[in-house]
Amino acid sequence: MSQAFETLKADLQRQPRTWLVTGCAGFIGSNLLETLLRLNQKVVGLDNFATGYQHNLDEVQGQVSDSQWRNFNFIEGDIRNLETCRQACEGVDIVLHQAALGSVPRSINDPITTNDVNIGGFLNMMVAARDAAVTSFVFAASSSTYGDHPDLPKVEDKIGNPLSPYAVTKYVDELYASVFARTYGFRSIGLRYFNVFGKRQDPDGAYAAVIPKWTAAMIKGEDVLVNGDGETSRDFCFVENAVQANLLAGANMPENGFEVYNVAVNARTSLNELFAYLSATLGANGIQYGKQPVYRDFRQGDVRHSQADIGKAQAQLGYVPSHTILQGIETAMPWYIQFLK
Ligand SMILES: NC(=O)c1ccc[n+]([C@@H]2O[C@H](COP(=O)([O-])OP(=O)(O)OC[C@H]3O[C@@H](n4cnc5c(N)ncnc54)[C@H](O)[C@@H]3O)[C@@H](O)[C@H]2O)c1
Repeated sequence: MSQAFETLKADLQRQPRTWLVTGCAGFIGSNLLETLLRLNQKVVGLDNFATGYQHNLDEVQGQVSDSQWRNFNFIEGDIRNLETCRQACEGVDIVLHQAALGSVPRSINDPITTNDVNIGGFLNMMVAARDAAVTSFVFAASSSTYGDHPDLPKVEDKIGNPLSPYAVTKYVDELYASVFARTYGFRSIGLRYFNVFGKRQDPDGAYAAVIPKWTAAMIKGEDVLVNGDGETSRDFCFVENAVQANLLAGANMPENGFEVYNVAVNARTSLNELFAYLSATLGANGIQYGKQPVYRDFRQGDVRHSQADIGKAQAQLGYVPSHTILQGIETAMPWYIQFLK
């Protein structure tokens, strides 16, 4: 258990703050929104529904009390519009900037839109937050920034060459954050998420992440498609760990300007192991999946192995992951079964 997180939650409830969550209709953003509203915080949300959904917001509304929901002010708008970003930052203490176009393959198919949103939109948010004098700016960085660096586990200051346009955009965001600290004294934290999963992650479409995609396929009795030989591995991170890291980061802006932290568990799970975990957890919930996975070609731009060293976040933020991958899958499974049918 993270003692720092428990202390922070008690402090926030005593003294609520105003937060801006961009991308609040998406997967991670809606989980941040839910946690913050449950803690009686005021939350401004910004989203243009590019990959997020009204039903995610409706679901959060169903999880909180009416008075907590009244603390939420939603702005439908695009981070590519600077005025919209300025409006969203008004009166805000802490920004949790999640809005972006995720997915490596999407960025390979359409690098221009990914660049516009992930770099242009990011820069708008930084300028707006700087001018509004917010106290904390936390943003979603990515493990893709490690690119072709071979070392495992990944340590924050050793990165390789990016392997996709998406990875370039997330690295450029870090460079801007670092330059904003040096040039304007604007402090921020980038959180390099490693394969986050949990409720409200989109299972549909060409760019869906592996866990919701496979779980939905298994629930429906469809084929599970594995890119490569199944020995590709990832440090899968349950969304509650990512939520914890965001709140802790918001309360721990670095003295010297900009810091980046890995957010994961420091464990490595192969796709074959993941398949076995999902199959077993579904079985424990009364759904038997009888098929074997179907192997196909490796996917362009994917790194072979990924695992995070989380020592820096532990030491400096007090981050302690609350869930292993298996605990996360077990926690999320009832939601998957209810919503992915
Ligand atoms: N999920 C992961 O494993 C993972 C890993 C590394 C980094 N990230 C980063 O975390 C953040 C959140 O990812 P997610 O998995 O929740 O994805 P998501 O697609 O569910 O959420 C992104 C949200 O941003 C919104 N958005 C996109 N473009 C926008 C724009 N121009 N203006 C306003 N809103 C816009 C979308 O509508 C969506 O609601 C992203 O920055 C992503 O790059 C995610």
